[in-house]
Amino acid sequence: MSKMMIRGGVPLHGVVQVRGAKNGVTKMMLAALMTREPVVLHNVPNIADVAMTVDLCRSLGADITWDCAAGVMTLQLETLRQEFVSQRFSGANRLPILLLGALMGRGERECMVPVVGGCALGRRPVDFHLSALQAMGANVVYRALSRDGAYLVSAPQGGLRGTTIELPFPSVGATENALFAACGAAGTTTIHNAAIEPEIHDLVLMLQKMGAVIVLHADRSWVVQGGYPLKGVSHTVQGDRIIGASYAMAALGTGGEITVEGLTPQLMSHFHPVVTQLGGGYRCEGEKITYFAQGPLKGGLHIETGVYPGFATDWQQPLTVLLTQAAQPSVVHETVYEKRFGYVEMLQKMGGKVEVSSHCLGAPCRFHGHNFPHSAIIWGQSQLTGTQLHIPDLRAGFAYILAALMAEGQSTIHGLGFVQRGYEALEETLTNLGAEVQID
Ligand code: EPU
Repeated sequence: MSKMMIRGGVPLHGVVQVRGAKNGVTKMMLAALMTREPVVLHNVPNIADVAMTVDLCRSLGADITWDCAAGVMTLQLETLRQEFVSQRFSGANRLPILLLGALMGRGERECMVPVVGGCALGRRPVDFHLSALQAMGANVVYRALSRDGAYLVSAPQGGLRGTTIELPFPSVGATENALFAACGAAGTTTIHNAAIEPEIHDLVLMLQKMGAVIVLHADRSWVVQGGYPLKGVSHTVQGDRIIGASYAMAALGTGGEITVEGLTPQLMSHFHPVVTQLGGGYRCEGEKITYFAQGPLKGGLHIETGVYPGFATDWQQPLTVLLTQAAQPSVVHETVYEKRFGYVEMLQKMGGKVEVSSHCLGAPCRFHGHNFPHSAIIWGQSQLTGTQLHIPDLRAGFAYILAALMAEGQSTIHGLGFVQRGYEALEETLTNLGAEVQID
C-alpha cells in the first residue's frame, strides 16, 4: 500500500478493536531477550514496527513465532548469536539503542548497536541513554563505520554497578534503557526524573513478573534492586492509547460515533477532559469507550503537551487538525519535541488556519529562546479541501488521514508506510467505519 485516496465529508460510525501499544510491545520484545526462557506476549498488534523488531531480535539469535491474527508471540533467546547489532538496523527506528540496556541487563559483557533513527521530530539524541549506562560503570565508545556509526558499550570488571541516575528530562527511551541495565547491575539503581508513561508501567509489570525487583517512588523515581535472575513470562500488552485517541478524534472530526474496544478509561483519562472541552462526548463500558460528536466543536483550548501525566505529544498532530474545525481559536504548545509541527505546512495548503510560532505559547519550556517552531495558534473555522499529501512521520500521517476525512473533495496521501509502522489494518478499519477510501 503506497498511497491512499480519501473522499472526505463522511461521518464515521462503527467499532475499532485496539490491540497492544506499539510503544509498549516493542520494548517488551527486547525485555524478552533478558532471559533465556520463553516469553509469551498476547495482544500483539500486526504493525510494521513489531515486524521490524522481530527481525532485530532474530538477528541476535532469538527464536520467534508470531500468530499475527491471534496477536500471540513467543520469543526465546537461549544463546546470543552476536553482540553486534547489524548496520542494516541503523536509522530504522529507536529500538536498537535499547538493546544496550537489554543485553547488559541479560549479563552480556559487551554490545554494539548502530546509531538510531525514528520519526524526524528534531535532533532526537541518545546522550541520556549513554550517560545512564556510563553512570553504572559502562565504557561507551562511538565508532565511525562504513555506513553511519555505532556505539560500543562494555561492562567494567565485575559488571555494571547500581547507582543514582539523574535524567535531565524524563525521556521514555532513556528510562527504559536504564531500567533494563539496572536489572542486571549489582546493587540498587535509582533513576530520578524518570518517565512514568503507562507503557513503562506495563513494561515494569512484565519485568516484575519475570522476577525483577522494581518500585516507583512518589517523586517519579524508579528504584531497581539488580541481580535477580529473570525468568520466562506470559504477558498481555495493554491497549494503545494513541490509536484509541486517533479514532476518537476521527469520530469527533467527522461528526460520527466510534467505539474503541480494548482500552480502559484509566488509560485515556488525560485525553477525556479535552474531548469534553471540545464539546464531544464519550461513554465508557468496561474496556469499550464510545466517542461521539454532539454538534460543532467548541475550541478555545490551551494545550501543552508534556511527559506523562501531561497531554501526550503523540496526540498533538491529530488534535491540531481537529482544532481547525472548532468555533473558537486554540493554542497548542509542544514541549516534548522541538520540531513536531512540520506537518502544518500541508495542513495550511488544505486551508487550515494555523500559525506556527517559535515562542513558548504557555509556560516557558526547555525550548524557550531556541527559535524552535514548537507552538501553534489554530484559528478554527477552516474549510479544508482535499489535496496531495506527503506523510513526513507516523503521527503526522494519521493527522493527514484525519484532515482528508474532514476535507471537501478528494485527497491523495503518499507515504503510508510511516502510518503502517503503528496503525494496524488501516484501509480495512477506515472502510469498516464507512470512510470512502481507495488504495493504489
Ligand atoms: N532526548 C534527549 N536525549 C536523549 C533522549 C531523549 O535529548 O538521550 C529528548 C528527545 O530529543 C525529545 C525528548 O527527550 O525531545 C523526549 O524523548 P524520549 O526519549 O522520551 O522519546 P523516545 O523514547 O525516543 C518515545 C516514543 C515516541 C514518543 C516519546 C514521548 C517509542 C518507540 N517512541 O520516544 O513515540 O513520542 O517517547 O512520549 O516509544 C510515536 O509513537 O510516533 C513516537 C514518536
